[in-house]
Amino acid sequence: MSTSVEVKIFPTQKKAVKSLAKGIYKFISDSTQKRFDIALSGGSTPKLLLDVLAGKYSDKLPWERIHLWWGDERCVPPDSKESNFKMAAGHLISKIAIPDENIHRIKGENVPEEEAIKYAKQIKAQLNSRGDWPVFDLIILGLGDDGHTASIFPYQMDVFRHDDICTVTQHPITGQKRVTLTGKVLNNANRVFFLVTGKSKSMRIAEIMNDDEAAKLLPAYYIEPENGELTWYIDQDAAALLQ
Ligand code: 6PG
Repeated sequence: MSTSVEVKIFPTQKKAVKSLAKGIYKFISDSTQKRFDIALSGGSTPKLLLDVLAGKYSDKLPWERIHLWWGDERCVPPDSKESNFKMAAGHLISKIAIPDENIHRIKGENVPEEEAIKYAKQIKAQLNSRGDWPVFDLIILGLGDDGHTASIFPYQMDVFRHDDICTVTQHPITGQKRVTLTGKVLNNANRVFFLVTGKSKSMRIAEIMNDDEAAKLLPAYYIEPENGELTWYIDQDAAALLQ
């Protein structure tokens, strides 16, 4: 295993987000790659990140060479306020010059099981692979208060270890169906950037960073790109329980 892990703690969410955006800009501008495949995370934390990318970096990043995917999507129509695509469209895609063909949304309006197969086929057809698994240049992940990441929830380690690129899960409380990338794809990325902010994440961050027994039930604990880098961008509130 040759994962390089870095934990960056910032006084505020804004500083964490700005550093993450700079980290995205740096790896892309340092590279001569013709194409970058990036999977976005959902939820609310990434909104600020997407605003920074759409603002400061709108004319600094080579959007024509960047392909946007999603780590997971709620099984709702693309105009639903629950949709991760809708969030990204409003905060980023509608504000940058990125070709339509570079946007690869998970179609939440489709039958989940069929969409998981279709999305996996698209990923397999378009991304390079390492071993049997596709390689994302970057996967941005968030952390749920319950320790889920993408849409792999606690006690769903079968999903984490799933042999498909994507699968269908259900939110344990709302029952909402989700299409999610699985653990082997997440851990095959060249880099994974976690963005975790706010007090509500502090217990899970402490469990994961301290290797607590409780962490071993959390999918996020097992994110460790085998041939890549893992960087945690955390604000002081989320790091509050770390020694
Ligand atoms: C989703 C996300 C999920 C998210 C966490 C954190 O679809 O909900 O992909 O994994 O990153 O739930 O969400 P917040 O940023 O809203 O706390």
